[in-house]
Amino acid sequence: MTPRDPTPPTGTDAVTDAPVGTSAEVPQAGQDSPAPVTPEHDALYTAQLERYAAEFGTLYLKYRQQTAELETATRAVVHAFVVALGAHDPYTRRHTQRVQASALTLAHTLGWDSTKLEDVRLGALLHDIGKTSVSDTILRKPGRLTDAEFQSITQHPVIGAHMIAGFPALTIARPFVLHHHERWDGRGYPDRLAGTDIPVQGRLLAVVDAVDAMLTDRPYRQALSVNQVTQELLRGRDHQFDPDMIEAFLDSGALDLYRPDTTDGSSHD
Ligand SMILES: [Fe+2]
Repeated sequence: MTPRDPTPPTGTDAVTDAPVGTSAEVPQAGQDSPAPVTPEHDALYTAQLERYAAEFGTLYLKYRQQTAELETATRAVVHAFVVALGAHDPYTRRHTQRVQASALTLAHTLGWDSTKLEDVRLGALLHDIGKTSVSDTILRKPGRLTDAEFQSITQHPVIGAHMIAGFPALTIARPFVLHHHERWDGRGYPDRLAGTDIPVQGRLLAVVDAVDAMLTDRPYRQALSVNQVTQELLRGRDHQFDPDMIEAFLDSGALDLYRPDTTDGSSHD
């Protein structure tokens, strides 16, 4: 143990080590009452409080500044991710915009509060970010994918989750990114979760993501009509999708967001 510095403490140390109540006014053995507080002690006490206040104010301002800088840096990272994804696959950029709008409509119908809606906004924006790791040749391949190509695509939720893992402010997006391809019956990917074991964020996004895919011309088929999509959702209820999500989605009016000129297709999901 390091010997204690015999030098009397100053500044903050003085406040910590020798607060008001030094031996001068601590009752001693046999003493009936503490010594009265002298004007000198009162002045010392006031000076200490003022120093505490000044130090706290400085720390608070520093905290506020660092928080603002962190928020700015996080926004820049999200922007960079989204720009990179759009440059890699323009279809996915437009798909992401539609999925975000549709997901917010569904979340609003479900009664999610404003904080959760902000989570949806970010989660939907980043949900396919892992596709930057998938070859654009595969993403835009006309015709059916080989098993190996499909396996490559199924990695995008895991890779996306890894991409955002180093940013604490993006943690809220993780369940959207990682679990939007899970299925209610447990036959989805990457973790083959089933039912309510799938985070609710993933169950929500699975519906709007699939709807956008069905309503879009794809390399291997033409877009379905809104009526056909509605039938597909009803067929997929209890198998592919959370039945409560399907009910809320059909009630939400999210299908009205789709117009003939709002969809296009050029790549695989
Ligand atoms: Fe995806």
